[in-house]
Amino acid sequence: MMKRSIAILSGGGDCPGTNAVTRAVAKNAIIKYGMQVIGIEDGYEGLINSRWRKLHYSDVSGILTVGGTILGTSNKSDPFRYGIEKGNKLEYKDVSKEVIANIKKLAIECLVCIGGDGTLFVSNKFHKMGVPIVAVPKTIDNDLHGTDVTFGFDTAVSIATEAIDRVHTTAQSHHRVMIVEVMGRTAGWIALYSGVAGGGDIILIPEIPYSIESVIRKIKDRNRMGKRFSIVVVSEGAKPKGGDVVIRQIVKNSPEQVRLGGVSFVLGKQIEETTGIETRQVILGHLQRGGTPTPTDRVLATRLGTKAIDLIQARQFGYMAAVSGSDITAVPIEEAGKGARNVPVNHPLITSARAVGTCFGD
Ligand code: F6P
Repeated sequence: MMKRSIAILSGGGDCPGTNAVTRAVAKNAIIKYGMQVIGIEDGYEGLINSRWRKLHYSDVSGILTVGGTILGTSNKSDPFRYGIEKGNKLEYKDVSKEVIANIKKLAIECLVCIGGDGTLFVSNKFHKMGVPIVAVPKTIDNDLHGTDVTFGFDTAVSIATEAIDRVHTTAQSHHRVMIVEVMGRTAGWIALYSGVAGGGDIILIPEIPYSIESVIRKIKDRNRMGKRFSIVVVSEGAKPKGGDVVIRQIVKNSPEQVRLGGVSFVLGKQIEETTGIETRQVILGHLQRGGTPTPTDRVLATRLGTKAIDLIQARQFGYMAAVSGSDITAVPIEEAGKGARNVPVNHPLITSARAVGTCFGD
């Protein structure tokens, strides 16, 4: 009898806990079902350019705590609109048929896709074209529909919280305003959770456009109360009322081209000029995606990875393992591709933060 076989890929921005998912999927497949496991390299890039390798038990052992992804990843490889550089020009080609041909060549019963909204949007298209796929949603931003929380978020929040704690002491010593800019794209989950955990005086998130007057009023009020420093936690996607986000970079050959970043510099200049208080900023950037996952993320990744194998056993293709309350459930993959899941402006954590005097700039 032919050995049962599956393949795993990780696509999009890397995220702490991805290896823990890969390990859970592969170990469960090998130990319980004697399956052969193939690792696709660099997300869909590997299926476009025929790059994969067999994953032995020893390859997935010892990676639970390792950051990044041993499979590699890419956020530039949408097979339905694959950018190919021709001289100075970028031309787009639909290479989805080549991907399907490669999947057939692999003779797998299912492809496990670990990815964010972009990767899962693509995965859902392949599922609709008849490819058996199950998925595990992944992003530090925590902004995917269909799941209460994503693995990687807890790690990003804990890294950001530690950073906020550290700038707290230097802000206090120098009587400065310190601004910590965190990731999250158009959703404020990381800023909200790390801002509350780190005791940020002002938390600015994309969902609540800020007024600079309100930010400055809060800083001045604190000064009058003898607090000669303030901590601002700002999400990279925060924007002023009636204004726009600050764009750091346009990545031409990426399906989602806009990279945010730099709002803390705009804010810092305005605060320093208006209040006369020295202001510094720290952009945490990719630090939030690096290194070992927290215990919470390791546990979550393990639960999601083993659920993916349950989905394959049940032949529930087109579904992803998701979190609902304290349960791991199965949700159609298309949920994750529905755009960003934003922080509701009446989120209970915003209410609690306001109750302890946190300013949201509104
Ligand atoms: O989606 C994860 C994320 O880290 C966002 O928070 C951030 O805006 C973006 O990816 C950065 O992308 P890149 O790694 O391409 O700079």
